[in-house]
Amino acid sequence: MSSERPYPQYSTYAEGGRSPSLLSQEYPRPTFQPDENYYPKNPLVEPSFCSREESRKFGAASFCGFLEDTVEVEHCLVIPAIAAIRRLPYDIPPTAEQDLYKSATDEGFHAEQSQQFLTDLRSHFGLVRSEEDRTPLFLRRLQNQRSLEPNPFYRDLITVLNGVVTETRISIELSRFAVDKSLGESVRRVCRSHAEDESIHASQFKALGQWLWGEFDEDTKIAAAGFYTASTIARSLPDVERLAYCFHASTGRPLRECQSLIYSIYTADVLIDRLIVESQPTVTFLQYLGADKYIPFSVALEEERRRLNSELTSRRNALEA
Ligand SMILES: [Fe+2]
Ligand SMILES: [Fe+2]
Repeated sequence: MSSERPYPQYSTYAEGGRSPSLLSQEYPRPTFQPDENYYPKNPLVEPSFCSREESRKFGAASFCGFLEDTVEVEHCLVIPAIAAIRRLPYDIPPTAEQDLYKSATDEGFHAEQSQQFLTDLRSHFGLVRSEEDRTPLFLRRLQNQRSLEPNPFYRDLITVLNGVVTETRISIELSRFAVDKSLGESVRRVCRSHAEDESIHASQFKALGQWLWGEFDEDTKIAAAGFYTASTIARSLPDVERLAYCFHASTGRPLRECQSLIYSIYTADVLIDRLIVESQPTVTFLQYLGADKYIPFSVALEEERRRLNSELTSRRNALEA
C-alpha cells in the first residue's frame, strides 16, 4: 500500500536549536547527601513508615523501579517499535522514517544513562532487584498480548502501537520529576535531559500514530483501537507487587506483611484512579485520533476494574491461606 497523503508535521532537534542528550554524554549521579530524595512522597504509604530514612529508602527503591522501566521501555518497546515500522504494509515517507531512526539512537543513550543511576542507587542502598523487576509487569502483559495474536501483521502492529502509546506519555512523566523541587538535583537533571529529548519523540510518534490511523482500513482501525486500549492500560497500571517489594526493601518488615498492607491500600478503585491520571496524555491522543469511538476507554476501564477486583481477592486469599 502506498499513500499520497501528507505526513503530519512534527518537531525536530534542528528546528528547536538543540542537540540530543546523547551528544553531551552527561551522566548525572546521585550524591547520597541525607536530604537527597529520589521520588515524590507517596501519600498513601507515607503514614506506614517508622522513620524518615525508611521513607527516603522507599523513594530510592521506587526510583530504581522507574529507571528499570525506562531501560526496558527503551530497548524492549520503543526501539523494537521503530524496527517494526518497516515491516508494516505502509510506505512511510523517507524523511519521517529517517527521523524515527534518529530517535532509536537517542533511546539507547537514555537506557545507558538510566542504568548508571540505577546501579549507583542499588549499590548505595543495598537494593536487590526483585524477580518481578527482571521483566516489568507492563512488559509481561504486552508480551502476553502479542504472543496470543495469531496474525503476523497484527503482531507487528501491536509492537508499533506500543511504541506510540509509551512515547505519548513519557515526556510528561519525566517533566513532572524535572520540576519537582522536593527531589534531589541529580534526579531532576537526569529526568530533565531525557524529557527534553522525549518532547521531540512524542511529537514524532504522535505524527506516526496519526498518519498510520489515516492509512488503516476499517477492520484495521477496529483491531488497532483494541491494541491501543490494551497497551494504554498495561503501561499505566501501578504494579502492586513492586510497591510491596519496595516497602519490604525499605522497612525490612516481612514481605507477606508488606504485601498485606499494600493490597489493603491499593484497592481496584485506587489502582483505576491512578491509571486514569497516568494515562491521560495517551487517552487525549486516542480521542484526537477517534480510536475511542471504536472502544470507549471508560468501558475498557470497567472491565479492568472487574479483573483487578478478582486478582486482588486471589492475592489476599493466598496471603491468608
Ligand atoms: Fe527515551
Ligand atoms: Fe523516546
